[in-house]
Amino acid sequence: MDKKLILTLLTVLTLFFTHYASAKTMKSHHKKAGLNCADCHISKPFEAAPMEQCLTCHELPQKKQDYHGAPDKHDSPHYGVELECENCHAEHETSENFCNNCHEFEFNVP
Ligand code: HEC
Ligand code: HEC
Ligand code: HEC
Ligand code: HEC
Repeated sequence: MDKKLILTLLTVLTLFFTHYASAKTMKSHHKKAGLNCADCHISKPFEAAPMEQCLTCHELPQKKQDYHGAPDKHDSPHYGVELECENCHAEHETSENFCNNCHEFEFNVP
């Protein structure tokens, strides 16, 4: 390939990713903590961040005795601690109370 073509391709790619990236905002708790996109997105182009990546910073819930009151969303009788974080904690959208597909628990997901 000639240099001009490569340069054009690079420009297009850069524009594409700048646009793509600007459409995503972080949760305020992560913004305040100074996180970068790459803290969760270890691959490029961005793919959904894997749950293991959350756990590089956040302890596995069951290790934390006082994680929070019952019923524990992080350690339920159905899923144990295996439920993917993003069922509840969306990073780029409104989070969701997954349990309330069936129950009526009063907790708000940050
Ligand atoms: C705290 C972890 C975290 C941070 C920080 C984060 N993301 Fe994400 N991102 C996720 C998760 C989890 C998903 C998949 C589910 C969702 O959309 O919430 C995702 C999805 C995406 C997707 C869609 C990918 C796909 O194929 O579904 C894009 C694009 C993206 N993020 C871009 C960004 C950009 C740009 C930043 C920085 C401004 C950023 N993310 C910061 C966790 C994060
Ligand atoms: C690079 C480290 C890092 C990664 C990766 C990370 N977080 Fe965080 N997260 C933090 C820090 C720091 C805070 C703010 C301090 C705190 O509340 O622990 C925070 C806060 C949070 C909070 C809010 C706490 C509250 O009290 O409101 C939730 C929920 C959360 N993270 C979920 C996630 C999920 C889900 C993922 C994976 C998609 C993730 N985090 C990935 C570092 C990280
Ligand atoms: C079934 C929904 C659900 C799932 C799945 C879930 N969480 Fe949570 N999480 C919550 C709720 C609700 C809160 C709010 C705290 C409360 O109500 O006690 C919370 C709070 C948090 C907090 C704030 C600190 C704290 O102890 O309150 C962190 C950090 C967190 N979750 C991380 C994670 C990580 C990491 C995963 C994946 C391993 C995950 N969560 C999976 C519902 C969920
Ligand atoms: C697909 C539907 C569904 C979802 C989603 C669901 N549950 Fe349940 N859950 C049930 C049913 C059905 C029962 C048994 C009937 C009952 O006791 O209400 C039950 C029972 C329970 C019980 C009582 C179990 C016991 O020890 O006897 C708890 C606690 C519970 N769920 C917590 C949760 C939590 C926390 C979540 C989210 C992580 C959740 N459930 C998500 C359907 C669901």
